[in-house]
Amino acid sequence: MDISDLPTPALIVYIDKVKKNIKDMEKRSKKYGVRLRPHFKTSKVVKVAELQTAGSKRGLVVSTLPEAEALAENGFDDILYAVPLINDPDKIKRCKALSEKLSEFHVMIDTIDTANLLVSTNLLNGKKWSIFLLTDCGYHRAGALHDSSKLIELAKLLHKSEKIQFQGLYTHCGHSYHLNADKTVKNVADEVVTNLLATVERLKTLGIQCKHYGLGSTPTCSQPTEMMRKVTEWHPGNYVFYDVQQEMLDSCERSDIACMVATRIIGHYSSKGFSHMVVDCGFTALTQQGYGKVPSGGYGAILNHSELKLENLTQEVGKITNVDGTSIDFAKYPIGSMLFILPYHSCATCAMHPVYYVADNEGKIVDKWFPVRGCGSSRDESNIFQYRPPSREDVATSSRRYAFEK
Ligand SMILES: Cc1ncc(COP(=O)(O)O)c(C=O)c1O
Repeated sequence: MDISDLPTPALIVYIDKVKKNIKDMEKRSKKYGVRLRPHFKTSKVVKVAELQTAGSKRGLVVSTLPEAEALAENGFDDILYAVPLINDPDKIKRCKALSEKLSEFHVMIDTIDTANLLVSTNLLNGKKWSIFLLTDCGYHRAGALHDSSKLIELAKLLHKSEKIQFQGLYTHCGHSYHLNADKTVKNVADEVVTNLLATVERLKTLGIQCKHYGLGSTPTCSQPTEMMRKVTEWHPGNYVFYDVQQEMLDSCERSDIACMVATRIIGHYSSKGFSHMVVDCGFTALTQQGYGKVPSGGYGAILNHSELKLENLTQEVGKITNVDGTSIDFAKYPIGSMLFILPYHSCATCAMHPVYYVADNEGKIVDKWFPVRGCGSSRDESNIFQYRPPSREDVATSSRRYAFEK
């Protein structure tokens, strides 16, 4: 199958770019002497996880339990569930099962309540809960503040319990995306590392050792600072695919962006006061993230057509205008022809697609990938079964069956 044969809208992933992005991040972390514990949330594809771990199948971060469960079923271990765990019976039960099944399954917490709950929840065979303490080093989304007494109290509790293996500190620097004239990616990284290292030192003076302490976001790990050598691990995720947002943050070049949405032009419309084309890509194929932030001013970036703007997205339909507001020369864009949209935020765009079409550099479709679906907040345990690795036969016969079949 060639790209031109794809049903649209379709998510295309360029395998060689994915491999290059993964190799580059691996080399960078090696050069800085820091372990890479990559995040799985962007692709949610087991095959990509294999590439991210160089085949070792060890040492990944996930953001949902279905992700962790799919990886565990596929032979992965040393998985960190990096969303604060609370007293939610469904999640505790599933984290308990993963902790008992894997040699290393780590959870992350930021409250005394959860710490107490885990201390009083026994794992089979006397196994210990493995815990990272989520530390807020400036992002202010979640976590115990790095300089707070709460963080010390939590660390002491985790350190002293015989039922807990205290692993150390995890911080995320999501504010490396929110910049202004005084705040560059590098400033944010250095501020976060400074706060993290000070916390590690403070705990050390109390006799509490942190085995691991890391930060990570694709912007910081794509252009690391010297200070980032001083942590034990990085956990970027978006770098596997990158996107227009990362290009704008100088994390990557446009040519590194490894995924895009193929769409077909399905209509030409003009009259007095308007001139636009319609494509079969709406927000269900792209998401509405990033409007106005891309250079064209619309959603995403239309590959090789900087003159065009994806002006509006409704559910399954997008409206394209000329960036400069002039009438479109429709002869240049025949009905049925394809356009390719580079997403502003690939994590969000990929989450819209039950199948990814994998292309080589010649534009041949060489594989199909079936990502883990379901965010896991449902009490319905069918979430667990939404993912099964496809057999060759399944790949050959159907792209859709897997995503929805139990
Ligand atoms: C907790 C956590 N760690 C790591 C990452 C990876 O960051 P990025 O997407 O910038 O690679 C994220 C992303 O949202 C995250 O939420």
